[in-house]
Amino acid sequence: MRIVSLSCASWVVVTITALSLTAWTSRVAAQDKPAAAKLAAGGSAVVRGKYLVTVIGCGECHTPLKMGANGPEFDEARMLSGHPGTLKLPPPPTPVGAWAGFFPMEGAAFAGPWGISYPANLTSDKETGLGTWTEQQFMDTIRTGRRQGRGRELLPPMPWRAFRNLTDADLRAVFAYLRSIPAVSNKVPDPVIPAAPTGK
Ligand code: HEC
Repeated sequence: MRIVSLSCASWVVVTITALSLTAWTSRVAAQDKPAAAKLAAGGSAVVRGKYLVTVIGCGECHTPLKMGANGPEFDEARMLSGHPGTLKLPPPPTPVGAWAGFFPMEGAAFAGPWGISYPANLTSDKETGLGTWTEQQFMDTIRTGRRQGRGRELLPPMPWRAFRNLTDADLRAVFAYLRSIPAVSNKVPDPVIPAAPTGK
Protein backbone atom coordinates (compact mmCIF):
# COMPACT_ATOMS: atom_id res chain seq x y z
CA MET A 1 0.00 0.00 0.00
CA ARG A 2 2.77 2.31 1.01
CA ILE A 3 4.67 1.51 -2.12
CA VAL A 4 1.60 2.22 -4.20
CA SER A 5 0.94 5.60 -2.55
CA LEU A 6 4.63 6.49 -2.86
CA SER A 7 4.76 5.68 -6.54
CA CYS A 8 1.47 7.56 -6.92
CA ALA A 9 3.08 10.61 -5.34
CA SER A 10 6.14 10.37 -7.58
CA TRP A 11 3.87 10.06 -10.59
CA VAL A 12 2.14 13.26 -9.58
CA VAL A 13 5.49 15.01 -9.16
CA VAL A 14 6.73 13.74 -12.50
CA THR A 15 3.51 14.80 -14.21
CA ILE A 16 3.57 18.26 -12.66
CA THR A 17 7.24 18.69 -13.60
CA ALA A 18 6.55 17.54 -17.15
CA LEU A 19 3.56 19.85 -17.42
CA SER A 20 5.46 22.88 -16.15
CA LEU A 21 8.43 22.03 -18.39
CA THR A 22 6.09 21.87 -21.38
CA ALA A 23 4.54 25.19 -20.41
CA TRP A 24 7.99 26.73 -19.99
CA THR A 25 9.26 25.39 -23.31
CA SER A 26 6.25 26.66 -25.21
CA ARG A 27 6.60 30.06 -23.52
CA VAL A 28 10.25 30.23 -24.61
CA ALA A 29 9.30 29.03 -28.09
CA ALA A 30 6.60 31.70 -28.27
CA GLN A 31 9.13 34.36 -27.29
CA ASP A 32 11.69 33.05 -29.81
CA LYS A 33 9.27 32.97 -32.72
CA PRO A 34 9.51 36.61 -33.83
CA ALA A 35 13.33 36.50 -33.66
CA ALA A 36 13.45 33.27 -35.70
CA ALA A 37 11.04 34.68 -38.26
CA LYS A 38 13.12 37.85 -38.48
CA LEU A 39 16.33 35.86 -38.99
CA ALA A 40 14.68 33.86 -41.76
CA ALA A 41 13.98 37.09 -43.67
CA GLY A 42 16.79 38.13 -46.04
CA GLY A 43 17.40 41.50 -44.39
CA SER A 44 18.10 39.99 -41.01
CA ALA A 45 20.39 37.35 -42.49
CA VAL A 46 22.51 40.26 -43.71
CA VAL A 47 22.53 41.73 -40.19
CA ARG A 48 23.56 38.38 -38.72
CA GLY A 49 26.20 37.96 -41.47
CA LYS A 50 27.64 41.40 -40.75
CA TYR A 51 27.86 40.49 -37.06
CA LEU A 52 29.65 37.20 -37.84
CA VAL A 53 32.09 38.70 -40.35
CA THR A 54 32.90 41.46 -37.86
CA VAL A 55 33.48 39.29 -34.79
CA ILE A 56 35.26 36.50 -36.69
CA GLY A 57 37.49 39.14 -38.24
CA CYS A 58 37.43 38.20 -41.94
CA GLY A 59 38.63 41.75 -42.59
CA GLU A 60 41.85 41.20 -40.63
CA CYS A 61 43.11 39.37 -43.69
CA HIS A 62 40.70 40.29 -46.50
CA THR A 63 40.53 44.10 -46.05
CA PRO A 64 43.54 46.14 -47.21
CA LEU A 65 45.01 48.66 -44.79
CA LYS A 66 45.71 52.35 -45.29
CA MET A 67 47.74 54.69 -43.13
CA GLY A 68 45.56 56.70 -40.72
CA ALA A 69 46.31 59.24 -37.99
CA ASN A 70 47.02 56.44 -35.50
CA GLY A 71 48.81 54.03 -37.83
CA PRO A 72 47.44 51.43 -40.26
CA GLU A 73 43.64 51.10 -40.35
CA PHE A 74 41.07 49.29 -42.51
CA ASP A 75 40.54 50.95 -45.88
CA GLU A 76 36.72 50.96 -45.71
CA ALA A 77 36.41 51.92 -49.39
CA ARG A 78 38.04 48.58 -50.27
CA MET A 79 36.33 46.52 -47.56
CA LEU A 80 36.90 42.76 -47.97
CA SER A 81 38.31 43.22 -51.48
CA GLY A 82 41.47 41.21 -50.76
CA HIS A 83 45.09 41.84 -51.53
CA PRO A 84 45.31 44.95 -53.76
CA GLY A 85 46.31 43.70 -57.22
CA THR A 86 48.15 46.97 -57.92
CA LEU A 87 50.48 46.50 -54.95
CA LYS A 88 53.76 45.11 -56.22
CA LEU A 89 55.76 43.46 -53.47
CA PRO A 90 59.43 42.49 -53.52
CA PRO A 91 60.19 38.79 -52.91
CA PRO A 92 59.85 37.87 -49.21
CA PRO A 93 62.99 37.65 -47.06
CA THR A 94 64.56 34.26 -46.35
CA PRO A 95 63.28 32.88 -43.02
CA VAL A 96 65.88 32.76 -40.27
CA GLY A 97 65.92 30.45 -37.22
CA ALA A 98 62.47 29.76 -35.77
CA TRP A 99 60.83 32.37 -38.04
CA ALA A 100 58.73 30.72 -40.72
CA GLY A 101 56.76 33.51 -42.37
CA PHE A 102 56.29 37.18 -43.21
CA PHE A 103 53.58 39.61 -44.16
CA PRO A 104 53.90 43.13 -45.59
CA MET A 105 53.03 46.40 -43.81
CA GLU A 106 49.94 46.86 -46.02
CA GLY A 107 48.66 43.46 -44.86
CA ALA A 108 46.71 41.13 -47.13
CA ALA A 109 49.61 38.84 -48.21
CA PHE A 110 51.36 36.01 -46.40
CA ALA A 111 54.66 34.27 -47.14
CA GLY A 112 55.46 30.96 -45.45
CA PRO A 113 56.50 27.39 -46.15
CA TRP A 114 53.38 27.10 -48.40
CA GLY A 115 54.61 29.90 -50.70
CA ILE A 116 52.84 33.27 -50.90
CA SER A 117 49.08 33.50 -50.42
CA TYR A 118 46.94 36.52 -51.14
CA PRO A 119 43.55 36.88 -49.38
CA ALA A 120 40.78 36.76 -51.98
CA ASN A 121 38.34 39.45 -53.06
CA LEU A 122 35.15 38.50 -51.19
CA THR A 123 32.98 41.26 -52.67
CA SER A 124 30.38 40.50 -55.33
CA ASP A 125 32.39 41.85 -58.27
CA LYS A 126 31.69 39.40 -61.10
CA GLU A 127 35.15 39.39 -62.71
CA THR A 128 37.42 39.59 -59.67
CA GLY A 129 35.29 38.71 -56.62
CA LEU A 130 32.68 36.13 -55.65
CA GLY A 131 30.01 37.67 -57.92
CA THR A 132 29.43 34.50 -59.95
CA TRP A 133 29.63 32.13 -56.97
CA THR A 134 26.45 30.47 -55.73
CA GLU A 135 25.67 30.22 -52.03
CA GLN A 136 26.32 26.47 -52.30
CA GLN A 137 29.79 26.99 -53.85
CA PHE A 138 30.65 29.37 -51.03
CA MET A 139 29.48 26.89 -48.38
CA ASP A 140 31.34 24.01 -50.08
CA THR A 141 34.54 26.11 -50.10
CA ILE A 142 34.38 26.74 -46.36
CA ARG A 143 33.35 23.16 -45.55
CA THR A 144 35.97 21.37 -47.69
CA GLY A 145 38.82 23.91 -47.84
CA ARG A 146 38.77 23.64 -51.64
CA ARG A 147 37.70 26.44 -53.98
CA GLN A 148 33.99 25.91 -54.71
CA GLY A 149 34.33 22.49 -53.10
CA ARG A 150 36.29 20.99 -56.00
CA GLY A 151 39.17 23.32 -56.98
CA ARG A 152 42.62 23.58 -55.42
CA GLU A 153 43.09 23.46 -51.65
CA LEU A 154 42.99 26.82 -49.85
CA LEU A 155 46.38 27.88 -48.54
CA PRO A 156 47.18 29.12 -45.03
CA PRO A 157 46.42 31.19 -43.15
CA MET A 158 42.75 31.00 -44.31
CA PRO A 159 41.21 29.37 -41.18
CA TRP A 160 38.62 27.25 -43.01
CA ARG A 161 39.17 24.33 -40.58
CA ALA A 162 37.65 26.52 -37.87
CA PHE A 163 35.02 28.15 -40.08
CA ARG A 164 33.69 24.83 -41.40
CA ASN A 165 32.07 24.39 -37.96
CA LEU A 166 29.68 27.28 -38.59
CA THR A 167 26.05 26.21 -38.98
CA ASP A 168 24.45 26.26 -42.44
CA ALA A 169 22.32 29.22 -41.34
CA ASP A 170 25.40 31.18 -40.25
CA LEU A 171 27.34 30.39 -43.44
CA ARG A 172 24.31 31.50 -45.47
CA ALA A 173 24.15 34.70 -43.42
CA VAL A 174 27.87 35.39 -44.05
CA PHE A 175 27.31 34.91 -47.78
CA ALA A 176 24.21 37.16 -47.72
CA TYR A 177 26.26 39.89 -46.05
CA LEU A 178 29.15 39.53 -48.53
CA ARG A 179 26.55 39.94 -51.29
CA SER A 180 25.26 43.15 -49.70
CA ILE A 181 28.54 45.11 -49.48
CA PRO A 182 29.81 47.29 -52.36
CA ALA A 183 31.43 45.30 -55.19
CA VAL A 184 35.08 46.26 -55.61
CA SER A 185 36.94 45.46 -58.82
CA ASN A 186 40.31 44.13 -57.68
CA LYS A 187 42.16 41.26 -59.31
CA VAL A 188 44.06 39.40 -56.59
CA PRO A 189 47.23 37.71 -57.88
CA ASP A 190 47.43 33.92 -58.02
CA PRO A 191 49.32 32.37 -55.12
CA VAL A 192 52.99 31.51 -55.51
CA ILE A 193 53.29 27.82 -54.72
CA PRO A 194 56.79 26.35 -54.33
CA ALA A 195 57.65 23.67 -56.87
CA ALA A 196 57.02 20.16 -55.49
CA PRO A 197 60.22 18.37 -54.48
CA THR A 198 61.50 16.25 -57.35
CA GLY A 199 61.35 12.46 -57.14
CA LYS A 200 57.93 12.65 -55.47
C1 HEC B 1 44.07 34.72 -41.13
C2 HEC B 1 43.70 35.29 -42.43
C3 HEC B 1 42.32 35.04 -42.96
C4 HEC B 1 41.12 35.21 -42.32
C5 HEC B 1 40.86 35.68 -40.88
C6 HEC B 1 40.08 34.88 -43.28
N1 HEC B 1 40.66 34.51 -44.47
FE1 HEC B 1 39.67 33.90 -46.13
N2 HEC B 1 41.43 33.64 -47.11
C7 HEC B 1 42.68 33.95 -46.60
C8 HEC B 1 43.68 33.68 -47.60
C9 HEC B 1 45.18 33.88 -47.47
C10 HEC B 1 43.00 33.20 -48.74
C11 HEC B 1 43.60 32.77 -50.07
C12 HEC B 1 43.97 31.30 -49.97
C13 HEC B 1 44.45 30.73 -51.27
O1 HEC B 1 44.71 31.45 -52.24
O2 HEC B 1 44.54 29.49 -51.33
C14 HEC B 1 41.58 33.17 -48.38
C15 HEC B 1 40.59 32.73 -49.22
C16 HEC B 1 39.23 32.75 -48.94
C17 HEC B 1 38.19 32.28 -49.81
C18 HEC B 1 38.38 31.64 -51.18
C19 HEC B 1 38.06 32.62 -52.24
C20 HEC B 1 38.58 32.24 -53.59
O3 HEC B 1 38.30 32.98 -54.55
O4 HEC B 1 39.30 31.24 -53.70
C21 HEC B 1 36.99 32.53 -49.20
C22 HEC B 1 35.60 32.22 -49.73
C23 HEC B 1 37.29 33.15 -47.93
N3 HEC B 1 38.66 33.25 -47.80
C24 HEC B 1 36.34 33.57 -47.03
C25 HEC B 1 36.65 34.06 -45.76
C26 HEC B 1 35.63 34.44 -44.80
C27 HEC B 1 34.13 34.44 -45.06
C28 HEC B 1 36.29 34.80 -43.65
C29 HEC B 1 35.71 35.17 -42.33
C30 HEC B 1 34.64 34.30 -41.83
C31 HEC B 1 37.73 34.67 -43.92
N4 HEC B 1 37.88 34.23 -45.21
C32 HEC B 1 38.72 34.95 -43.01
C33 HEC B 1 42.94 34.41 -45.33
C34 HEC B 1 42.01 34.62 -44.33
